Amino acid sequence: KDSHPLIMIIFGASGDLTKRKLMPALYALHKEGRIEGDYKIVGVSRTEYSDESYQKYIREELNHFVKEQEQDTKIMDDFATHLYYFPMEMGENAAPFYEKLKVKLEEMVGDAPLDNLLFYLATPPSLYSTIPINLQKSGLNLPNSRIIVEKPFGYDLESAQKLNEIYNSVFDEHQVYRIDHFLGKETAQNILALRFANGIFEPLWNRNYIDYVEITAVENLGIENRGGFYDGTGALRDMVQNHLIQLVALTAMEPPATFNADSFRNEVVKVYDSLVPLTKEDLDEHIVRGQYLENGEKKGYRQEKGVPEKSRTETYIAMKIGIGNWRWSGVPFYIRTGKQMPTKVTEIVVHFKPTPHQMFQCAGGNCPTANKLILRIQPNEGTVLKFGMKVPGPGFDIKQVEMDFTYDRLGGAPVGDAYSRLIEDCILGDQTLFTRSDAVEASWNFFDPVLKYWEENPKASLFGYPAGTWGPLESEEMMKEHGASWTNPC
Ligand code: BG6
Repeated sequence: KDSHPLIMIIFGASGDLTKRKLMPALYALHKEGRIEGDYKIVGVSRTEYSDESYQKYIREELNHFVKEQEQDTKIMDDFATHLYYFPMEMGENAAPFYEKLKVKLEEMVGDAPLDNLLFYLATPPSLYSTIPINLQKSGLNLPNSRIIVEKPFGYDLESAQKLNEIYNSVFDEHQVYRIDHFLGKETAQNILALRFANGIFEPLWNRNYIDYVEITAVENLGIENRGGFYDGTGALRDMVQNHLIQLVALTAMEPPATFNADSFRNEVVKVYDSLVPLTKEDLDEHIVRGQYLENGEKKGYRQEKGVPEKSRTETYIAMKIGIGNWRWSGVPFYIRTGKQMPTKVTEIVVHFKPTPHQMFQCAGGNCPTANKLILRIQPNEGTVLKFGMKVPGPGFDIKQVEMDFTYDRLGGAPVGDAYSRLIEDCILGDQTLFTRSDAVEASWNFFDPVLKYWEENPKASLFGYPAGTWGPLESEEMMKEHGASWTNPC
């Protein structure tokens, strides 16, 4: 018997991620014909919906979360007909519900065998271990099924190892897709194209020519209504251990010999394994954590709903990290992330070393600083190279100018959303842009001492910063020893 078209089962179907990201991404795949005709999406969570009321709910949410220019009433209505719903408990003692879910799925495929299943875990992380165990108990971990798990995968090294054990006992590694949506971003993938499809950057891409690298991923919103989740998580777990370190890997990795899932992910793991372990001095001096404070109209973190009055959870973190290998030895990577900053931006700034000797005058007394290559991940996606040119006219004054490429010139910002790209890759069985079990552990292994240090030293510095500003001044101090400073984009 032929296998049936894809059935995607979303756990956490009434949650925020599903309505904001997953459904719009699936709608985009549907609209562009990138998902096979007769697929089905089954929403699963505790809220009571029928198939019809769930379709209605999602149909309405699409009006809010799909960009206006992409909305097409007829196609949205048609997409909604692919949705089904199954209310159930998902936690520890919920095995009987999984049995019933299986029956529902079997009914949906009729005579065809149950095999083409894709599970998506869009639930709170506390369910990440119980769901696969229950899938196994009910026999839903079929050889052909796949499972996508949201970040954070684990809470620290030990819990990540335990989770990996569970997943690897229920599924084969090739069935497990640990998602990090930053890797689905067009501009993050473009870092690889810029580095490995051009001859002019790579020869300079090392300790001989690069002075330091900055990676910034900041946002101008607070934690919104996620207080309960965020307070137990913090910026390190929410952004650094996954998104930021992925950007470090893309910037620092060696070129894979071929571009496939194994070669690419081998190189990522090598970067993580080369991260220079943090010393006591690093923990004290090269990590700055902060928490936003009330500022005018803007609430402070401790005033947010669901956040304890005396919370010491960080909403900002800046740190200096080193990569101890032949290419990068001695080149600091400064990374930072924060909520309630002046703007939302993610970018990488590669600072090249200055020329060995300065023989020109500088326009206005401002000597052109060394060359910089800015890779703008979002928004205003593009690449800017800064370099010195002679100011026209008498004398030999030098001024820094820019050569830039923006995605707008290719007809607009990158099409589609990171989630569409990644869900499509999973449907096609391509794991390249998903995190492998060894990578997730290698990354936790590096950051674990930071978490332990904060846990064991409850009085370790936590600086306040007024909401809407660039974070604690101490993060500037941290860079001074290298003669570096943050590039704050406007
Ligand atoms: C998520 C974090 O993974 O990434 C959020 O949990 C953060 O706290 C978000 O806001 C940022 O993603 P993006 O794509 O909007 O930069």
